[in-house]
Amino acid sequence: MQFKYQNSTLLSTNSILQTAQSIISYVIHLNDVQAKNDYTDPECSINLPADQRIIKSVNETAEQLNENNKLKYIIDIGIGGSNLGTKAIYDALYGYFDTIEPDRLPKMIFLDTNDETYTAKLIKFLEKINDPEEIVINAISKSGGTTETISNLEIVFHTLQKKFPDIKNRLVLTTDENSRLWNMALEKGIKKLPLPSLVGGRYSVFSAVGLFPLKLAGVDIEQLLAGAENIKKTCLASNVLNNPALLSAAIIYLQSKQNKNIHDTFSFLPQLESIGKWYRQLMGESIGKEQDLQGNKIHAGITPTLSIGSTDLHSVGQLYLGGPKDKITTFLYTKNHNEIAEIPEELEFNLVPIIKGKRVSNIMNAILEGTKTAYTKQQLPFVEVEIDKVDEYSLGEFLQFKMIEMMYLGKLMNVNPFDQPHVELYKVETKRILEEN
Ligand code: PA5
Repeated sequence: MQFKYQNSTLLSTNSILQTAQSIISYVIHLNDVQAKNDYTDPECSINLPADQRIIKSVNETAEQLNENNKLKYIIDIGIGGSNLGTKAIYDALYGYFDTIEPDRLPKMIFLDTNDETYTAKLIKFLEKINDPEEIVINAISKSGGTTETISNLEIVFHTLQKKFPDIKNRLVLTTDENSRLWNMALEKGIKKLPLPSLVGGRYSVFSAVGLFPLKLAGVDIEQLLAGAENIKKTCLASNVLNNPALLSAAIIYLQSKQNKNIHDTFSFLPQLESIGKWYRQLMGESIGKEQDLQGNKIHAGITPTLSIGSTDLHSVGQLYLGGPKDKITTFLYTKNHNEIAEIPEELEFNLVPIIKGKRVSNIMNAILEGTKTAYTKQQLPFVEVEIDKVDEYSLGEFLQFKMIEMMYLGKLMNVNPFDQPHVELYKVETKRILEEN
């Protein structure tokens, strides 16, 4: 993975380096957390990729549930931090292609929110399954009590239990040890996987929350974790010039101070759209805070947006290039594509002759380069993240880079990037309204 920022941020290198250097004691703290290699600090998610116990329990449970290679569908029930990381990786590798690769199995079915029509259609789909070994249900909830997740679990379980009385054996619950869900699993003899209690949902993708369903889906989780572990070393470097997470945080922070309070992740790989959605939660919940660390009301926040190249150039390109200069953009792309596709040498229609014989990626590269040049001409700041390839290793690198970036950004903004007190507000109100009706 390469992080590029020189000559495109409209900031002086000096100010970026000084800002990064101002939190060097926090870099040292992260190194201490890594050295402790336990789960006693808020930043402890950085220790997940090297935790062999997690990999062992995930692999064992996954192998047990697919020992006859019959698995076709993994129903992933969870919302927010409990499913966005899983979906980010699944969609990048498989999900984006699911419609045009109908025979590739197993497939993941994500159940996050509560949509009545979708639920009704899903029930009909589940009723057609004839062999319980074709299905695994994985319900994930850190708290164990999120209304949407538990509703979806009840529906799926009830539907399948009517047909398969032992469907309990195909259910795995992933949750905090000692949550109500955990204790219920213990009582009922349901398989369960733990999430360390100080690892928050949006930092949990390298725990059983993400690893178990991804392993079942065929993702090489060892490579995913190897990428995460490799970039972690770079992102904990105390030489700020070599630390992409720290540089990225410093640039986003400095731009926010200049009223560029929107951070757009502009992916020129459409299969990474769900990674952008994962990052929206990471940035939204980590940085959007009413209070600073001293308890002063500050209503801080940087709004994360997501754009897909080149699709969104045809929808919001005008706004971005001609509208308010209120954004800092991260362009995300690769130059190495997993498969090759070319425009024919003989053009049937010949309406755009310059495309003749070109690889599809040549066209996309030209659009990306054209977009960057237009941003430069319009004096719109950006950084670039070039991943080596869309594979497990590079995705592991990117997600870990972004999680550590967010810890640094929280420090720079003087907010707690690990809590989300205001998410609870709607949850409490929802339960109150349901009780009254
Ligand atoms: O990050 C968060 O805390 C939230 O987005 C949660 O992940 C989400 O609300 C789901 O909560 P839980 O995992 O407890 O069901």
